[in-house]
Amino acid sequence: MRGGRVQVIDLHKSYAEVPAVRGISLDIPEGEFFSLLGPSGCGKTTTLRMIAGFETPNSGEILIDGADVSRVAANDRPVNTVFQNYALFPFLSVEDNVAFGLRYQKVSKAESKRKVGEALEMVRMGQYAKRRPGQLSGGQQQRVALARAIVLGPRVLLLDEPLGALDAKLRKTLQIELKSLQESLGITFIYVTHDQEEALTMSDRLAVMAGGLVEQVGTPSEVYDSPATAYVADFLGSANILDVEVVGPAGHGRSTVRLGGQTLTCRGDASTDTAVKLVIRPERLTLESTGEEGGAIDASIARIVYQGPTTDIHVRLTTGEELVVRRPSERAGHHAVGESVTVHCRADSLQLLPPGALG
Ligand SMILES: Nc1ncnc2c1ncn2[C@@H]1O[C@H](COP(=O)(O)OP(=O)(O)O)[C@@H](O)[C@H]1O
Ligand SMILES: [Mg+2]
Repeated sequence: MRGGRVQVIDLHKSYAEVPAVRGISLDIPEGEFFSLLGPSGCGKTTTLRMIAGFETPNSGEILIDGADVSRVAANDRPVNTVFQNYALFPFLSVEDNVAFGLRYQKVSKAESKRKVGEALEMVRMGQYAKRRPGQLSGGQQQRVALARAIVLGPRVLLLDEPLGALDAKLRKTLQIELKSLQESLGITFIYVTHDQEEALTMSDRLAVMAGGLVEQVGTPSEVYDSPATAYVADFLGSANILDVEVVGPAGHGRSTVRLGGQTLTCRGDASTDTAVKLVIRPERLTLESTGEEGGAIDASIARIVYQGPTTDIHVRLTTGEELVVRRPSERAGHHAVGESVTVHCRADSLQLLPPGALG
């Protein structure tokens, strides 16, 4: 099997005049694991359903391997969908569920048996072939739903929050399984999730969506380390987002800004004396000197929140702003509320948002 390239060009969709998707364009190369990430209601499912052919766009185009499929019926598109609720037939065995879609393809009984066996092996469900869905756990049912989708040999697999109904531990296991399944199949996966950690773990690239639009497309490290907007910075993990004033350019794509009574060097260009937003990931801050510094700011500890492997230390700057510093718990134990500290940060860890960034 090989993957299909999916191009979505300026898709729009409204339900009874209410816009759900407001102009989305994506270009997903063949064999990529691509995620649509965003909060509930941002238009992820609507986008996926238009690619699948279950929903007709008001305008825009959908191309698969260069061919416009916008007017092609769902079951004639080289795509298949896996839903959160599995949608298995309860009275059919596992193997009959997987074989079901093959009924409409011209395959012999022997060929069908071989394909079903292969698909079940790929999802490690070979030994459950004779069981009914009701005799399987949620994770096993979702594996069967996956086998049923891949047995048809789609070039593109669409997955709508497929792990959403499973508990946290099983989700982690299946995330890794799904990613390696995608790699061995070599087909394109378009994966919908509202879980940022899931999207960062599995995707080659992802689109961060809000309000029916794409805010940013990039690799996990691009969107995490260089968020284009405050919204993206805030949605992916935790971020300190602060209003700062630009002192001046510092060359090499860097600028100097004022924060907490100190002058800091950070990534990003901005014009002097403008108000901009600075994004700092809490795990990139330390309370010990690091050598290569973007700056050091005096502060006092306002709150200490233990979280198991890490501890969040909330500090208040002399100018009143609050920052969260995330430290490995074994390095945080000796700190106490009220203590005076110096927050150290590398210039690379301080990112100015481009002027005009939303949010
Ligand atoms: N069939 C529908 N009829 C009316 N409104 C809908 C329908 N499907 C989705 N919507 C609305 O469109 C918006 C986007 O929904 P959806 O694509 O399901 O978001 P997501 O999958 O990101 O949670 C939401 O405001 C939702 O209420
Ligand atoms: Mg949805």
